[in-house]
Amino acid sequence: MSGFSADWLALREPHYARARNPAVLNAVIASLKAYRSIRIVDLACGTGSTLRALSSRLAAQQNWCLADNDLGLLARASAMSLPASVTVTTVPLDLNRDLEAVLDGPVDLIATSALLDLVSQPWLERLAVEIAARSIPLYAALSYDGRIELSPTDPLDAAIIAAVNAHQRTDKGFGPALGPTAAAAAITRFETLGYSVVHGKSDWVIGPQDREFQMEILGGWASAARDIGDLPLADTIKWLTRRRDAVAAGRSSIRVGHVDVFAAPMGTR
Ligand SMILES: C[S@@+](CC[C@H](N)C(=O)[O-])C[C@H]1O[C@@H](n2cnc3c(N)ncnc32)[C@H](O)[C@@H]1O
Repeated sequence: MSGFSADWLALREPHYARARNPAVLNAVIASLKAYRSIRIVDLACGTGSTLRALSSRLAAQQNWCLADNDLGLLARASAMSLPASVTVTTVPLDLNRDLEAVLDGPVDLIATSALLDLVSQPWLERLAVEIAARSIPLYAALSYDGRIELSPTDPLDAAIIAAVNAHQRTDKGFGPALGPTAAAAAITRFETLGYSVVHGKSDWVIGPQDREFQMEILGGWASAARDIGDLPLADTIKWLTRRRDAVAAGRSSIRVGHVDVFAAPMGTR
């Protein structure tokens, strides 16, 4: 178990799918257009949301290597029904310990979504060095970037958002997490390595009708604020109550900032 339940990932997926930045996605697709057959490694695949978002848009015969350390999520990913042009191999592994194990052999694209904000600067550096050494492009979608907009506003929003962003920087199994700085760090690092980088916003835009998703997000943020402990617990609970009342009344909207990145080695693709 990773702490990312299949139910939570399923609740997020339509928002993720809508949020993916089209210019970045199109750059990924264009880079693979000339291939008849490709192998894609999806790091921290969860139940396979990147495969669902990308595979139907690629003309090539595809082999996806889906890597995650959560066996339950991998089992769901491998149970997905797929077109004949797509084959899947699931690889249970701890990416913090064994990243290199999925990079060997022919790989045409490393894909990942909602992973980079969980990893540390040293792990990002390791990923960058390892894939640059192999001249592999990287499509890293949906990294949280620290922006949260809530409507209607509440006097405690700023304090809760600060706590959420502090929580995002805590260790998620890879050392102190990059959290909101992940996408910017990746862009800078891959540019330094001579990659051509396309990036763009991929914000979740969550409307008043998405009550269940909003309730889950707000509960998660309140828990993060409790864990950080900068706010009195009673204030966090009052904030959550006011927010949930607004959701129940159909008056609440939330935008959560994310960034998509496609980094390709220059001159080789
Ligand atoms: C936020 S979820 C994203 C899942 C999927 N990419 C998506 O967009 O729906 C993060 C994923 O990272 C995986 N994960 C976390 N730490 C990991 C580790 N050390 N090794 C492998 N996978 C890990 C979790 O199991 C989970 O599937």
